[in-house]
Amino acid sequence: MSKVEITDKILYVGVNDRDIDLFEGQYVVPEGVSYNSYLIMDEKVVLMDTVDARKSEEWLANIKVVLGTRQPDYLVVSHMEPDHAGSIAAVAEEFPDMKIVGNAKTFTFMGQFFDFDIDSKKVVVAEGDELSLGKHNLKFIMAPMVHWPEVMMTYETSEKILFSADGFGKFGALDTEEDWACEARRYYFNIVGKYGAQVQAVLKKLAGAEVNAICPLHGPILKENLAYYIGLYDTWSSYRPEDEGVLVAYASIYGNTAGAAKQIAEMLKEKGAKKVAIADLARDDMAEAIEDAFRYDKMVLACSTYDGGIFPCMEDFLSHLKAKNYQKRTVALIENGTWAPMAGKKMREILEGMKDVKVLENTVTIRSAVKADTVSALDKLADEVMNA
Ligand code: FEO
Repeated sequence: MSKVEITDKILYVGVNDRDIDLFEGQYVVPEGVSYNSYLIMDEKVVLMDTVDARKSEEWLANIKVVLGTRQPDYLVVSHMEPDHAGSIAAVAEEFPDMKIVGNAKTFTFMGQFFDFDIDSKKVVVAEGDELSLGKHNLKFIMAPMVHWPEVMMTYETSEKILFSADGFGKFGALDTEEDWACEARRYYFNIVGKYGAQVQAVLKKLAGAEVNAICPLHGPILKENLAYYIGLYDTWSSYRPEDEGVLVAYASIYGNTAGAAKQIAEMLKEKGAKKVAIADLARDDMAEAIEDAFRYDKMVLACSTYDGGIFPCMEDFLSHLKAKNYQKRTVALIENGTWAPMAGKKMREILEGMKDVKVLENTVTIRSAVKADTVSALDKLADEVMNA
């Protein structure tokens, strides 16, 4: 078990998963992921969430080390997604007298996932309800759609600890040494990104509360400089760009479109762009390209025409952006087509359907390969991007 102390009486009992191939069936996690779970030891003992069924056994062993001869009185379920709820039946069987705390929706979903006798164990809570454990006291804060409808956060009022469910989570096992923001941002935009308004709503509810530590369901426990993390969540969930910069994302069949994309990326750097990221949408991690699209205020898309439309990986990228509520950004377009270039028109139609996305009027059209006239057109487009 990763040794993480939150306080004397609030102890980490979660697990790392370094064997998983794809988190949520789609995201690469080179450093794995942690499923966090906590025990609060007081007159009443509370277990905060379970873990993915893949790691039930290891997790139950962690719990027993901390519990000693005691038994948990309650299991609080913040979120029913199986990465956290996957071991509910196993722990209910292990501790038959334990009550399960959730809201009405939690129990609807629990019944859909499991067959054990839930009704005899359930304690239904709603917004603002409290549960006293002795010295500790839990207050429940509903956080619908951050990231499922039943999600709730829990604020422990005596030590001022926020159990934030998926909020403030990060990819990467707990024994990974890496920058928090990079993998927390990729996690946020891909998993919670669609629900910015709901994240804003919960940030407003939490605004008055003093918080000494944030205990999320994934990634490290945050104990210091909390304003930094909360500030990033405010930026991300309000869809404001975090940094001035440009993502150049390309979809290329034989490398000519890729060459144009790389050329404009260099031009942007020479013209003083603060940050330029580049993504090969056919080969690079799509989730990272989405992260960078939201991170920066501008984007250049370069795409080959295919079957009279957009090359598939670019179409996929745009459909992800639309689903995640991409907005408030400026986009420039480069298309390629040997006989009937159409990618620019089709990309523009999709982007113009997004909220507050300004698509620069001038599209650079490449006819097969980059020639001298394309280079000057790319240079002009780079100027327009810089001045937008
Ligand atoms: Fe980590 Fe939405 O589950």
